[in-house]
Amino acid sequence: MQDGRTTLSKFLIDTLDRKPGPEAASGLSALLIDVAASIKTIAAALTRGALGGQHGSAQSVNTHGEEQKKLDLVTNDIFLQHCEWDGLLAGMVSEEMDGVYAIPDAYPRGEYLLAFDPLDGSSNIDINGVVGSIFSVLKRAPDESHAADEASFLRPGREQVAAGYAIYGPSTMLVLSVGNGTHGFTLERDVGNFVLTHSDIRIPEDSCEFAINASNERFWEPPVRRYVQECKDGRTGCRAQDFNMRWIASMVAEVHRILMRGGVFMYPRDFKTPAMEGRLRLLYEANPMSFIVEQAGGLSITGRERILDMKARALHQRVPVILGSRNEVARIHRYHGEYDRGEDKPFTSPLFNERSLFLPETPA
Ligand code: F6P
Repeated sequence: MQDGRTTLSKFLIDTLDRKPGPEAASGLSALLIDVAASIKTIAAALTRGALGGQHGSAQSVNTHGEEQKKLDLVTNDIFLQHCEWDGLLAGMVSEEMDGVYAIPDAYPRGEYLLAFDPLDGSSNIDINGVVGSIFSVLKRAPDESHAADEASFLRPGREQVAAGYAIYGPSTMLVLSVGNGTHGFTLERDVGNFVLTHSDIRIPEDSCEFAINASNERFWEPPVRRYVQECKDGRTGCRAQDFNMRWIASMVAEVHRILMRGGVFMYPRDFKTPAMEGRLRLLYEANPMSFIVEQAGGLSITGRERILDMKARALHQRVPVILGSRNEVARIHRYHGEYDRGEDKPFTSPLFNERSLFLPETPA
């Protein structure tokens, strides 16, 4: 007998298995249930906090040269253990592993590819702040029969068949999309079920809130500096309204806020480390978050191009990310175009900020 609530399993069976379509009976719902099991296990581990004995450095660095925390490795293993056995995956990629993780010979292989960041924003662990996990699911190309390798994963993000994230805050939520909108489930801890609480999330098209690490301002490109300056000018500037700024240092937390009430998140291209194209990783951060955001009516770009159209060149490729409320992201895209075409003279003029003199009203 139904209690009127929709659990994750019911949602997935109704959405994927009982609807005609490419993922019907393909096992995608079972794979996502295993991903959800990883998330529940991670939530339980995080809730124990310092009592779990897993805080602090693992005394190792990952493939990006970043210090790994014990929890980075523990949460990575949790994903591997929950997802490697089910016969649905051909391989896995994660922020914490150099190459493609091959499914052990003891288990059957499947046709899906899982890329994940097991613990996003892990610098927040030490301060008991919000962290998350991010995941992306691709299907192997139909003509691919060899063991999954790097090339198997190097596909445009628009080909994802599912993507999502978990946010470990006061409550744990799983937000996901299988291509029919973005939906949020809240973990009912005492029962262990994810329950649908946020159906078909829509990001407001306009917003007066932006998120960026402002300590990098001197390294930003002019179009980003222009946008942020205009926001900071508030009601006395060309935007004629006050803006609010937030920075949680966890992409999951920023994206979640944007899904709940709108806004823009930017980790743009900058010249702090010229060799790096951006800060965030394409396969397991930018692509899944872009999929989630677009499925909720928002936009996600590098500044110049749609992230979901990029073809990845490497497993751990980094990209600039600007995502969120449609009209704000479109405006930032336009600013990049105007800059590239040399059409944004008002911004570079010393009279920039003199709204009445130089800046036309610029509806997105
Ligand atoms: O690794 C990614 C990440 O932790 C994001 O989740 C977050 O948005 C960003 O890095 C934080 O960067 P910064 O250290 O510049 O605040």
